[in-house]
Amino acid sequence: MSKATLKLDDKELEFPIITGSEGEQAIDIGNLRSATGLITLDQGFVNTGSCESAITFIDGEKGILRYRGYRIEELAEKSSFLEVAYLLVRGELPTPAELEEFRHSITIHTMLHEDFRRFYGGFPKSAHPMAVVSAVTAALSTFYPDSLDPDDPLHVEICTKRLLAKLPTIAAYAFKHSIGQPFMYPDNRLGYAANFLRMMFATPCEEYLVDEVIAKALDLLLILHADHEQNCSTSTVRVVGSSRANLFASISSGVSALWGPLHGGANQAVIEMLQSMEKQGLSGKQFLDKVKDKQSGIRLMGFGHRVYKNFDPRAKIIKKTCTEVLQRLNKQTKLLDLAMELEEIALRDEYFVERKLYPNVDFYSGIIYQAIGIPVDMFTVIFAIGRLPGWIAHWTEMHEQGFRISRPRQVYTGATERTLVPLAQRG
Ligand code: ACO
Repeated sequence: MSKATLKLDDKELEFPIITGSEGEQAIDIGNLRSATGLITLDQGFVNTGSCESAITFIDGEKGILRYRGYRIEELAEKSSFLEVAYLLVRGELPTPAELEEFRHSITIHTMLHEDFRRFYGGFPKSAHPMAVVSAVTAALSTFYPDSLDPDDPLHVEICTKRLLAKLPTIAAYAFKHSIGQPFMYPDNRLGYAANFLRMMFATPCEEYLVDEVIAKALDLLLILHADHEQNCSTSTVRVVGSSRANLFASISSGVSALWGPLHGGANQAVIEMLQSMEKQGLSGKQFLDKVKDKQSGIRLMGFGHRVYKNFDPRAKIIKKTCTEVLQRLNKQTKLLDLAMELEEIALRDEYFVERKLYPNVDFYSGIIYQAIGIPVDMFTVIFAIGRLPGWIAHWTEMHEQGFRISRPRQVYTGATERTLVPLAQRG
């Protein structure tokens, strides 16, 4: 198949078919409007490709996820988050020397400008940390005017390193501010995940030793969240970047997009759902009956995905890690038991089977976060730390490829032209 034909009344038009490296095909409708005066309407972009990209491949039917050609299962088993970040941002896995240079260059940027303390002080303690993280990320552009030019590769390089280095610090400070504890400076002797855990949980008064099992589990979660092609937040980063907004501003908008409960906010929603089931003493079946009743407006959070219609490979890996972490920490597993009960019933239930609804990445991740002491409203913040290299990779790819400003069209359904009646004569 190399062309698609569109018949409009007695006119026939041909459109080229683009084929990707994994064989998926798209009709290139780039000249549709100029040739026909028509546009396409595709709510939620369910059938619309917004770009060509060489970063991440997903086959939602087969449950395949690969970053730059590497299977997520293999990356989860054999690599670290910084290696994956390098892979996404630079295109290839690093050699040991390249990784060391990358690690060092990120490590030396982990501190935040001291003036940010006053900035944090302006937020109410009750502020949601995603709001704080989005605001502080945008504010980085006020502190670093030397790295804002999207056309200067050196600016982009420095901005990339600053973001990767500072986001865990920004996130941990948001938490410390909310509980009124002193900010903990980064400890650059530690690895990426371990440093974040220390900034979250240490205080200046006591020695804090990072549990390596927990640091490893967190590193794995970051890997699993690192990219997911044109999802809501990544598309947002691209759209904002397409106006030639700087990288800090574009990433800040990605954080905001990720916050919503239908996207990254789902991990928080899952725990809240499980806790409310526990509180109300609802069994898995009783809760799922509510979900299936459309009038209730209740969804099984952590289930369903726009792309995965068979299983989410990340959910499989997380489920295994979840069991291991809980065992290691000797934590009570009530919420995990409830989650497994829900999964088991839902996977056999006609409602979920028919609609191809399976556990997604968020179904078990919240249980791990909770077990390691991360407060619920910080869950999505950790997702943001994980997704950061993906956002940067997509923003950079778009700039390297060349782009036009993202500007969808619409089908107008409002009033047709009418005459304005002066205010005094109205009503
Ligand atoms: N619980 C109950 N029913 C569901 C669920 C769910 N979690 N997800 C979808 N459905 C139903 C819908 O009601 C709809 O039913 P209908 O055909 O009878 O009207 C059908 O399945 C299709 O659902 P859509 O909302 O059209 O699917 P869409 O692809 O637009 O949405 C989404 C995908 C947003 C992920 C959805 O499945 C959902 O809301 N899931 C719960 C939230 C969640 O876990 N989000 C995290 C996604 S992963 C991520 O962002 C990292």
